[in-house]
Amino acid sequence: MVFFLGILALGVFLVATAARAALEQSSDFQVGLNVAAQAAQKLYFGTATNADQWTDKTYFDILKDDSEFGQITAANVMKWFDTEPEPSVFNFTDGDVIADFVKATGKRLRGHNCVWYNQLPDWLSNGTFTAPELAFIVERHCFTLVSHYRGQVYSWDVINEPFNDDGTYRVDIFFNTLNTSYIPLALKAARRADPHTKLYINDYNIEGIGAKATALKELVRSLKASGVPIDGVGIQSHLTVGGVPATLQQNMAEFTALGIEVAITELDIRFTALPPTAAGLAQQKADYATVVAACNAVPGCVGVTVWDFTDKYSWVPSTFPGQGAACPWDENYVKKPAYAGITEGFLG
Ligand code: G3I
Repeated sequence: MVFFLGILALGVFLVATAARAALEQSSDFQVGLNVAAQAAQKLYFGTATNADQWTDKTYFDILKDDSEFGQITAANVMKWFDTEPEPSVFNFTDGDVIADFVKATGKRLRGHNCVWYNQLPDWLSNGTFTAPELAFIVERHCFTLVSHYRGQVYSWDVINEPFNDDGTYRVDIFFNTLNTSYIPLALKAARRADPHTKLYINDYNIEGIGAKATALKELVRSLKASGVPIDGVGIQSHLTVGGVPATLQQNMAEFTALGIEVAITELDIRFTALPPTAAGLAQQKADYATVVAACNAVPGCVGVTVWDFTDKYSWVPSTFPGQGAACPWDENYVKKPAYAGITEGFLG
């Protein structure tokens, strides 16, 4: 047994060493983002995706490539509006397309998400519910969704974006009716549904130390103190070029010191004015490297996911008109300097 473990450890060491050597010899850092992540002992480098983009062959070829992506997040189709369009009528057709792709390619799946104020079905956002009714609805949704994908999901964003930027709770249908009780309800239902998936709370503007990150740390502490299952925090990281918080690494370490893991779950680094200059692209490369290096330096950071990998399909321009070019590949699938920034962040 010890002999076999020794051989296994040697094998892992040799693969990591070979990947690092290949990377060091490669002047243009073409070894692949997931190869770099795994050589750095992380679980994965991943991307969000929408299946309607897969008819674009160039897109799909890159998405499939295990050397680039070892993890997939459904950008939309596992959300409430798609998975429970009518009360208690569940639809997993679209989500299954993503899950089946993940299974067929041997990648990891992150589940996104169970409870979020946005992209809710009309029956829920326009409905009026008593607290017991809504508690039942939340539990039913989380339990059924997580059960459907039991055994297939590395980690679930059970709660998405519960805070305002000042650290107060977001006033949405869930908070309005249930105060903060919907959070333990959802987490416990998810745990019952799949005992092995990692249960996360996922949010943005918690990258640096500040009121919002502090509020989330306090929530994690109190959930743990009362025995509510919580395994991780997703640090979305929708950032701007030149705007990576200086306290990112310290902040991640503070989260993991609470006894949970962290992941960068939705990374993109956008230009607030377009088109990018050469200096801007160099800054974006440095920013990608900084974020990835912070994850790399914190042992409890398990992986990094970009919120799609090409500017062609980025969500940014539709939400921030005039901004964009946020991804490591441009809209013509040319790798930007940011791509090399990611591999540098993993492997120095
Ligand atoms: O499905 C309809 C389609 O029928 C319609 O024709 C079309 C017209 O606009 O809209 C389509 O819905 C869009 C949906 O994405 C599916 O493509 C919505 O308009 C659009 O608002 C929606 O945007 C999504 C956004 O979440 C909603 O807030 C983005 O694709 C998705 O990438 C984004 O992801 C979020 C994470 O879940 C949470 N963190 C932030 C992140 C970025 O906003």
